[in-house]
Amino acid sequence: MDKLLIRGGVPLHGKVSISGAKNASLPILAATLLAPGEHRIANLPELVDTSFMLSLLGRIGCASLVGKDVRIDASRIAYCEAPYDIVRKMRASVLVLGPLLARCGEAHVSLPGGCAIGVRPVDQHLKGLEALGCRFELEGGYVHGKVDRLRGAEVDFDMVTVTGTENVLMAAVLAEGTTVLRNAAREPEVIDLGQFLIGMGAKIQGLGTSTLVIEGVPALRASPKPYSILPDRIEAGTYLVAGAITGGDVTIEGVRPDDLQPTLHVLGQAGCDIEVDESSVRLRRSGPICAVDVDTQPHPGFPTDMQAQVMALLCLAEGTSHIRENIFENRFMHVSELLRLGARIDIAGNLATVYGQPMLKGATVMATDLRASASLVLGGLAAEGTTEVLRLYHLDRGYERLEEKLGALGARVARGSEGRVPAAFAAAS
Ligand code: UD1
Repeated sequence: MDKLLIRGGVPLHGKVSISGAKNASLPILAATLLAPGEHRIANLPELVDTSFMLSLLGRIGCASLVGKDVRIDASRIAYCEAPYDIVRKMRASVLVLGPLLARCGEAHVSLPGGCAIGVRPVDQHLKGLEALGCRFELEGGYVHGKVDRLRGAEVDFDMVTVTGTENVLMAAVLAEGTTVLRNAAREPEVIDLGQFLIGMGAKIQGLGTSTLVIEGVPALRASPKPYSILPDRIEAGTYLVAGAITGGDVTIEGVRPDDLQPTLHVLGQAGCDIEVDESSVRLRRSGPICAVDVDTQPHPGFPTDMQAQVMALLCLAEGTSHIRENIFENRFMHVSELLRLGARIDIAGNLATVYGQPMLKGATVMATDLRASASLVLGGLAAEGTTEVLRLYHLDRGYERLEEKLGALGARVARGSEGRVPAAFAAAS
């Protein structure tokens, strides 16, 4: 199994270009199921999760061709099923539920079950789709859905759910009549999906607000133009923290700074100098890291997907920070591993108290989810000595060419595997 070796203590310098957003790619790939024909998608990141979604589409019957643009032929749906062996590896597979019901009138999707960051039920997805006329049965670990005709309806989500909003939106675009989604997610990735759907002929108003009004259309068509996925604000934020935690000077390129505002605000409070341009952000830190209190919230609040990375930074602050995780009940799995690097953190319910330390020390660490692993890499970049981050596959799910991009910023990182240490690390250890 691959691991990442990091020799810490080098301030990162330079420019890094940001890839397409994982969390926009997954719903957009699922949305290709809504219209026959060939879909072309540009800026799709090469990640384990996007290849899982492409293989799920393949199982359903849609061939894809990966090149500069990814081409997906959704002319034929052979099976309306997302099987357990794919869903258990990537819970976002549930995003095919709405599109399959809309296109075929039936769908069989394995229940995602629990995951490392909490229970993550899909009741809101089902509630919204039921309002549009779908009927569900749970059997053998699968959700079996059927619908004769989708009809527009009013849906009030009980909480803000990103993939829940996306699933119901993708069904509503082909429903008869008007659908109103209240308490809808406002994340940039939901807007990106909405724009992709509009490019296929969908009628959607209110993207970026908490009320979406969807006028159903009888059919959608694959757009002849390639659709370019928006830049990944979480990957972008992670590289900014890499600059901040090492006291470096990092410019992220090809981003939408507006989408990064909540993260930029916290990094500014932490003592970083930030310069924002049209599509790039430069971060420098020469002074101490200041303690900050952070509260995760749905967009436009501070993203839960940046919580672990910012916690790594605050481990080195002057003073005590408080981080409240409001989205997921069990998203502090990185804390016990940060402690192994010498951090001091207390947890009480959903509140983490981070007592800043003057330094971290390299260790072998292992995380159970994607962003938790990212926080350990960041800790390792700042730590004295060598850090080994095990289970690198978590990072491969969400960070394209991670070691290459970090290496280009001057980080001393290398991919190794159990029993094999890269030469540069073996020589000095
Ligand atoms: C998406 C993102 C994930 C991010 C999260 C929150 C993708 C592929 N993943 O996950 O990276 O961390 O948004 O920004 O886009 N909930 C329910 N019932 C439901 C749905 C959600 O109780 O039917 C709860 C969840 O358990 C959680 C909260 O609502 O506590 C928000 O979850 P949600 O926004 O749905 O997260 P995901 O869409 O799974």
